[in-house]
Amino acid sequence: MKIFLDSADIDEIRAHIASGFVDGVTTNPSLIAKSGRNILETISEISEMVDGPVSAEVAATDHETMLAEGRKLAGLAPNVTVKVPLTEAGLQTCRALSDAGTQVNVTLCFTAGQAMLAAKAGATFISPFVGRLDDIGQDGMGLIEEICTIYDQYGFETGVLVASVRSTQHVVDAALLGADVVTLPPKILTALYQHPLTDKGLAAFISDWEGTGQSIL
Ligand code: G3P
Repeated sequence: MKIFLDSADIDEIRAHIASGFVDGVTTNPSLIAKSGRNILETISEISEMVDGPVSAEVAATDHETMLAEGRKLAGLAPNVTVKVPLTEAGLQTCRALSDAGTQVNVTLCFTAGQAMLAAKAGATFISPFVGRLDDIGQDGMGLIEEICTIYDQYGFETGVLVASVRSTQHVVDAALLGADVVTLPPKILTALYQHPLTDKGLAAFISDWEGTGQSIL
């Protein structure tokens, strides 16, 4: 399973790339707004820093403008994946971009029916938002299970990119279901390293080692 970072903060992305675990980056209009920076400059910079796919989202809602925006974003770097919303116009744009050889990430997916349409529209990735479904008392991971089953059943090549991740358990559950990618807020990637017993065990090892008076180097 690939790990993408869900961020438009250049410094944050740079810090996490050093870990070697970042296979790609996803952004959205809210993350760009939070960064306070220009989208074109930001996406160009991130695309240079990361080898894998960098999702950049269109802002328009009509097909013609979305297509023009998508082409412009895709022209920024070869690893830009154009992100479009799961609407009729978004899927029409997905088809056009995908037919032209551009990678497309269809976002704001909340049902398996929507995911099926995105796959048929040639999406490279589908982004189901598990956390936002959990937030309204629905079963986010249940949606991932449905999508993985349907995609497997019909051999759709669209990658399941689990988005709106709220916890490390979401990451584990996504992996157990065979999802292709999880996109993680940086704090969840950091949390994946951590366990109190790791800290406690390490403290004991350090203390016992100091008692030996030895040095490896
Ligand atoms: O990038 C899309 C998605 O990951 C958003 O997550 O936390 O705003 O629901 P969130």
